[in-house]
Amino acid sequence: MQTLVIEVCMGTSCYLLGAQDLMEAIEELPPEKRTRIELKGISCLKNCGKGPNIRINGIVLTNVTPEQLLQIVDDNLQ
Ligand code: FES
Repeated sequence: MQTLVIEVCMGTSCYLLGAQDLMEAIEELPPEKRTRIELKGISCLKNCGKGPNIRINGIVLTNVTPEQLLQIVDDNLQ
């Protein structure tokens, strides 16, 4: 079964740009999805102007909205 490692930048800029909303979107997923996601807060990804930034299975994504993140989760957790 595929799992996802989602790392959310917890630096100040990303926090101000909505990183906490991304964390909450994942935390609120139903258990059958939530248990397949390893969610971590990480330090600044050095791309502060394009936040909020995340890394999913090692790939950095910028300017992510909760809606985009949930779509990515759905696309990857079939
Ligand atoms: S604060 Fe997120 S990339 Fe710097």
